[in-house]
Amino acid sequence: MSESKQFNVAMIGLGFGAEFLPIYQAHPLANVAAICRRNEQEMNEIGDKLGIEKRYTKYEEVLADPSIDFVHINSPIPDHAWMSKEALKAGKHVMCTVPMATTIEECDEICQLVAETGLKYMMAETVVYSREFLFIKELYESGELGKIQFMKASHPQDMDGWPDYWKDMIPMHYATHVVSPVLGLVDGCAEYVSCFGSGSVRDEIKQRSGNPFAVESCHIKIADSDVSAQIWRFLYDTARQYRESFDVYGTKKSFEWTLIEDDPHVLHTAKKPESEIPERIEVPDYAHLLPKEIQKFTQSIQDADHLSFVQGGGHGGSHPHLVNEFLSALAEDRDPWPNAVQSANWTCVGICAHQSTMKGGEIVKLPAFTIK
Ligand SMILES: NC(=O)c1ccc[n+]([C@@H]2O[C@H](COP(=O)([O-])OP(=O)(O)OC[C@H]3O[C@@H](n4cnc5c(N)ncnc54)[C@H](O)[C@@H]3O)[C@@H](O)[C@H]2O)c1
Repeated sequence: MSESKQFNVAMIGLGFGAEFLPIYQAHPLANVAAICRRNEQEMNEIGDKLGIEKRYTKYEEVLADPSIDFVHINSPIPDHAWMSKEALKAGKHVMCTVPMATTIEECDEICQLVAETGLKYMMAETVVYSREFLFIKELYESGELGKIQFMKASHPQDMDGWPDYWKDMIPMHYATHVVSPVLGLVDGCAEYVSCFGSGSVRDEIKQRSGNPFAVESCHIKIADSDVSAQIWRFLYDTARQYRESFDVYGTKKSFEWTLIEDDPHVLHTAKKPESEIPERIEVPDYAHLLPKEIQKFTQSIQDADHLSFVQGGGHGGSHPHLVNEFLSALAEDRDPWPNAVQSANWTCVGICAHQSTMKGGEIVKLPAFTIK
């Protein structure tokens, strides 16, 4: 890895976004050049704690700053698409939290801007850099799973008590945590989907979101593959502990996610006596894939004096891997994973799935610009 240049990042949004700041500060390829948040007082608290001098309350000012190489966008969901487009138009590379956008048109516009400018775009999908995903990928690539026969992913989460804007959201419009592992594992593109709505949400949620269903459950046809996958989601009015699960069924071995957080996951091995087929396993950490300066961030860091927000360990230890992937792509002048087109395919699965739900499960094809 070339260490000749440091890339200047501006962090946009300092809720979830703040968790990435210490990682960028420790990475040899990055310099945290600026932070941006609308609430100046809260921004100053973080800037003072972390010693970040340049602070902006207005996004336009970040984009007008010629010293900024890229923005890492962690604003609320409705702001992802316009902020990404404006950054690309201003000549900045973009790392953006999920989802890429909430409409197909916006995904298309971002892909077009990336193609026209040659700038890098990466959707910061945590699931495909979690230790579970990296473990399953290693099993798959080493041949231990055999041929993949089916995949399943779920992301139930009761959003009562979360910021109010979630009431306007549709479950499948925030589906990348379930789409990304099933497509990412086999490096596939979704070709078409069929999604069923089930149950019903209370009137307030139905009126605000326009979605009457409690649960959305979608089948994905993967292009040029005989494998299909099933994903499901809810946001309100269904009882279950939060879970971002990923199950993979192979001819030789299958991985099943635990039902209860912090219990062990299960690996099934074919052709053993029935009682010996399942085995509770501990998933290893993948810090060794990272530069040594940021390896500690795959685990939670207990440092009471340092910061009030979580440092490291979040989302299966994925945060330092995301940071490292984008910086490495910039340094090596290659596409990050996922790039804009892959991010659009992953995001549009959810958008098409909801269209399908509203048509009683009719097949909806993914837009051609997302299939490469
Ligand atoms: N696993 C994951 O991938 C994951 C986990 C958590 C959050 N997220 C995503 O991260 C994003 C942020 O989540 P959060 O919980 O921190 O939300 P939040 O509402 O708590 O914070 C949003 C932040 O964005 C800032 N902001 C909003 N509009 C802005 C503007 N115009 N200019 C500058 N700053 C602006 C706000 O000041 C705030 O700091 C959401 O899109 C969420 O979906 C992803």
